[in-house]
Parts: sequence; structure tokens; C-alpha cells
Amino acid sequence: MRTPLCVGNWKMQGTIAEGRALATAIRDGLKRPRGVDVVICPPFTALAAVNEVLSGSPLRLGAQNCHWEAAGAHTGEISLPMLVEVGCRYVLAGHSERRREMCETDDQINRKVQAALVHGVTPILCVGETADERRQGLTFTTIEGQLRAGLAGLTPDAIARIVLAYEPVWAIGTGINATPAQAAEVHGYLRGLLSELSSKDAAGAIRILYGGSVKAENADALAAEPEIDGVLVGGASLNPGGFIAIAKKTARAGATGKGE
Ligand code: PGA
Repeated sequence: MRTPLCVGNWKMQGTIAEGRALATAIRDGLKRPRGVDVVICPPFTALAAVNEVLSGSPLRLGAQNCHWEAAGAHTGEISLPMLVEVGCRYVLAGHSERRREMCETDDQINRKVQAALVHGVTPILCVGETADERRQGLTFTTIEGQLRAGLAGLTPDAIARIVLAYEPVWAIGTGINATPAQAAEVHGYLRGLLSELSSKDAAGAIRILYGGSVKAENADALAAEPEIDGVLVGGASLNPGGFIAIAKKTARAGATGKGE
């Protein structure tokens, strides 16, 4: 019922030429991906070039950030209409690197989620606890706070149109992924909250991705968990062979695990 989703987040990496080459290799390796949706999120400067590469393919384009206003005096920012014009269908909201480095607040993230939906772009809302929070037994408190704040004011119908990503901060870029069981426990909790905030049916249809040190070697086991509906991949998405393998494993394991 939920088609697995595999998202590559290139972060602040690569020239336009490198982005074009990487997207071309991924596109050519995933000509007809079965049972998985694939999204690539390059840096802003490479969006137009990657959009050209992906045009006519089943792969979709996403941005790593957006402003909530459609236009105005916001030096250095990029709006959703600008992202739509360049072909983006998805946008990350609340990635932990932006929460930490750019001091993004839950309120700003909430506005981004709302604005994305208004402009027909699917927000991928990221939540996750730090190592300290996990040690102190605050994992569920933290992600619940981030989820409720990120979705504040949204109607149940709007909530049904988002993608959620659980990304434990301690697993991002560290090489230490959450175990499938650890991730599944949090995903189950998040789905329960989504059900409360929207409806059981809507919550059952929302894709909840896992992110944090996903690589080809652990993608099978993670995607085999029925509660894990795909992956958000950082470092490993910069290697075309690795990312293609992850996308295929997400599809295969997801299909088996969910009895599709
Ligand atoms: P990573 O990053 O795969 O390099 O751990 C994941 C992310 O930040 O989305």
C-alpha cells in the first residue's frame, strides 16, 4: 500500500557539472525502478541542470530547503514558486543540520511545511533526537514535540500529504545507523501520533522514512521493517552505484516486508 521512497540528499556538495554527471549515472541505473519512488535533492545551484537530466525519467527532484514566503525581501532565500519553476516536487523541512547550524525553529519549519503544501510540493519533515536526548530517555518526548510543532495548524487532509523522516542526529554522518528495531520502534510511535493528528487511514498511508548512515550494506535490513517506508540517504547518495543499490534494496525489501 505504501510505495517505498528513496531520497538522496547531496547536502552542500558538488559543482553543476558534477551534479549533472551524478544525476545522469543515477538516472541511467534506475531506468524503470519497480516498487520504489526515487527523489534526488541537489544543492540549489545544480537544481536546473539536474532537472534537465531527470526530465522524462521516473526520478523526481527535491530541494534541501525553502523559505515560507512566496517572494519578498529575504536576502539569500529561495521560495517555493522558484523551486516549482525549476522542477522540484519535494522539499526537505527541518533537517537536523539546519536546526542546529542555522538555528531553525519548529515554528519556521512549520511554516515551510505549510507553504510547501500550498504550492503543491511534498514536504519531507525531518525529526530526530540527539545522542544526549536518547541517553536521557527523551527520544519520544523530543520527536513528539518536533512532530506536533512541525504539523501545527495543518488539517488532517494536509497532514496526509506529507512525508516524514526519522533521522536520529547521532546516526547522521557518523557511520552508526539506528538498528532496524530501534528505528521501527520510533516509526511505530510516530505513526500512532500521526493517526491522532489526522486519521488512522491517513496515518496508514503516510510514508515514514529512516535516515542516518544508510548504505547499501544496511538498506535491506532497514527497509525490511514493515514500519520503515524508505530511506533518506546523505553521504551514500553521492556514489551512484551505492545509491542505485540502496534504491533497489529499498524496493525489494519494502515489497517483501509489506507483503506487496
Ligand atoms: P547520512 O545523512 O546518510 O550521511 O548519515 C543522512 C541525512 O542527513 O539525511
